[in-house]
Amino acid sequence: MLKKVAILANGGDVSGFNAVIRAIVKTAENHNIECYGYIDGYNGLLKNDYVLLSTAGNGDAKGILPKGGSIIGSSTNSNVFHYKVKKEDGTVEYKDLSDVCIQNIKDAGFDCIFTLGGDGTQKSARDFATKGVNVIGVPKTIDNDVACTEITFGYNTAVSVAMEAIDRLHTTGETHHRIMVLEVMGRYAGWIALESAIAGGADVALIPEIPYDINRVATKIENRKKRGKEFSIVVVAEGAKPINGDITIMGKRDNGAGVDNTKLGGVGQVVAKQLEELTGLEARNTTLGYMQRGGSPTAFDRVLSTKYGVKAMQLALEGKFGTLAVMKNGKLDYALLEDVVGNNKEIGAVSGNTAESNIRKVTMDHDLVITARNIGINLGD
Ligand code: F6P
Repeated sequence: MLKKVAILANGGDVSGFNAVIRAIVKTAENHNIECYGYIDGYNGLLKNDYVLLSTAGNGDAKGILPKGGSIIGSSTNSNVFHYKVKKEDGTVEYKDLSDVCIQNIKDAGFDCIFTLGGDGTQKSARDFATKGVNVIGVPKTIDNDVACTEITFGYNTAVSVAMEAIDRLHTTGETHHRIMVLEVMGRYAGWIALESAIAGGADVALIPEIPYDINRVATKIENRKKRGKEFSIVVVAEGAKPINGDITIMGKRDNGAGVDNTKLGGVGQVVAKQLEELTGLEARNTTLGYMQRGGSPTAFDRVLSTKYGVKAMQLALEGKFGTLAVMKNGKLDYALLEDVVGNNKEIGAVSGNTAESNIRKVTMDHDLVITARNIGINLGD
């Protein structure tokens, strides 16, 4: 019998966090289960910082469906299995503080923890499950790259934002006969670039899974010019790289130990410059950045997030712990967190979100790739 449960939202923000939280709370309320929310992801778990979530009266979880972000915050640097601690002398060490978290869960009397997050978050969730905690994950990330599920919440909103940007870039491209490059997010997987390119009618989509040949891209643009189309739209995923080349790095970030701490960015600018030189056409880059993560979720994401929240609570009621709510063949289902982390088995050593993680990449036989190629979208190869 479940009496008290808690939610934590972890990793980069996406639209739909609140819709999932609301759905879990509502389903819990229908079963007379109290639902709490940890503040700022795994950091809240470590600091024992949580609030009661309720849709009654002026409850925190009331009216949150259309709101972007997360009402209980989120954290991008809180691998509690490998936590950054500052020593008195100012130096830094990494400690496994997971037992502190487990004690906090016991003290609070939580029967289940819902972990809303991407690959890194679910890696820690799996590690907690291995240590005996009742955990249910919900797959989040705009990159759509969590293993074992067809779609993550937040992705559709990001694609919609990118599509609208492509629509708007068409205006300047057509008016000034320019190549308009749009850099979108997508660290290891090019789902956003590929799907928004199709939705927005772009001419080129460069994704991490297909190292690009800039000459092929230039040829595509020149061929369009010969057919009287003096502008082109090029969508580039931040993680795209040239054949025999490397990803473009903007700097470093501090998202904790065991994660990929390179801050990506700049490939759009590089591509724009090269295309200008190769084609003689003017080129401009626009980097969409965090616009893709914020704001109100699309109708699709509101519904998907609500379905995921309900499914997660149902899994808890059925006692199916150590699992992730997923979408398989268009239907709600679940996967073992053990399978989600793939070969990334070592407890705590890496938090996930690394190049070696078990993330879901675009495959060459995917409908989106086949569709893009058939309508003449150049994929850089
Ligand atoms: O994982 C989602 C994502 O949006 C990536 O595409 C991007 O590289 C990363 O987050 C940036 O995260 P942050 O700057 O918040 O660490």
